[in-house]
Amino acid sequence: MRITLSILKADVGSIGGHTKPSERMLEATRKAVKDAISKKLLIDGFVSHTGDDIAMLVSHTRGADNEEIHQFAWKTFLDATAIAQKYGLYGAGQDLLVDAPSGNIRGAGPAVAELEFEHDPVKTNKVRPAESFMMLAGDKCGPGAYNLPLFLGFADPMYCAGLMLPKLIGGFRFRIIDMDHTEGDSVIELNAPEDYYKIAMLLRDNERFGIDAIYSRTDNEPAVSVSAQRLHNIAGTYTGKDDPVALVRNQGIFPAPEELVSPFAKAHFIGGDARGSHVMPLMPVPLNTSVTGIYCLPLVSCAAFSLDASGHFSDEIVDIFDNPAWDYVRNKAQEKGLAMREQGWSGAAMLPYNELEYSGFRHTVEGLLGQFSVRKDGHKAVTHAAHSTP
Ligand code: 13P
Ligand code: MG
Ligand code: MG
Repeated sequence: MRITLSILKADVGSIGGHTKPSERMLEATRKAVKDAISKKLLIDGFVSHTGDDIAMLVSHTRGADNEEIHQFAWKTFLDATAIAQKYGLYGAGQDLLVDAPSGNIRGAGPAVAELEFEHDPVKTNKVRPAESFMMLAGDKCGPGAYNLPLFLGFADPMYCAGLMLPKLIGGFRFRIIDMDHTEGDSVIELNAPEDYYKIAMLLRDNERFGIDAIYSRTDNEPAVSVSAQRLHNIAGTYTGKDDPVALVRNQGIFPAPEELVSPFAKAHFIGGDARGSHVMPLMPVPLNTSVTGIYCLPLVSCAAFSLDASGHFSDEIVDIFDNPAWDYVRNKAQEKGLAMREQGWSGAAMLPYNELEYSGFRHTVEGLLGQFSVRKDGHKAVTHAAHSTP
């Protein structure tokens, strides 16, 4: 069968600030998913939250960008928004940027990542005798939060020794999106390992370029899908952060989970936390973690699933970062975060002007720019400046 996995994620309101959605909102979302399964719109579904973002992971046979699936998600987020409004929660409907999107909801605010592939998990299937995959969900993150870890997992044998195995040594194709381009998706495809330096050259800029998808070059199978977009570019003003989600297939012709998560041990610095405007380390956390740290510490959760022949998720899932192995990384992230916060707003601690997601920061600068004037005497000497009129 041809199966599609879709993650649809939105921040539609949270308790006491940008912390977590309420249980009522989550319960309503779970019920909507359950109803959609009984109506046969979906095969299966899983609802969780990371910080104040609700993520629905669903399996179905309707393909990517399917109107019915996307409209179902939009309606479910609207219903959760109504609950947030009723109970006076903060930022109700924050990520729903348009009134009523027609067709698919990409670009309308929610983060969407989808993988569509042939699903025939039998022993004789040489490519995928079993399907296993992971879902990544971030909160308080800039759009390129996964650029470095996914690049290292799929292109660098220092992090993924599996790349040296016959099934993987043909490398992976990276589709990279230019998120500054808002009229349509502007993408480039580059091949690892031969384009390694070129890929790095683009992915170093987490705010402009993002991994959109990764494919196995040997089997031409999709490996990764990331929701790469910049909400503040789309809306033209602060609306919430990009907080990407990703689907990552693993094992067999793809890297193993233990390889894929190894770059997350870095707790690398990313933009986008606290008012969408600061730089802090990415902390791996269990599913359903609230945001309560100083300047929010950007969060990422990772859940691993198996998929049976009928497209149902395994009864149990594995919450990858919910393990003592990650406590050390969490402490490291906290220490890195504290060190960064020591320099407050200065330089690397805060995003540059064009990337400040709270447009109010930019308005403050614009107001001041209007008050600058060019000195009439043209002298630069400090002694003269002291006498010049403003
Ligand atoms: P969210 O994008 O999760 O709403 O976070 C807003 C924020 O920047 C809080 O400081
Ligand atoms: Mg929020
Ligand atoms: Mg959020």
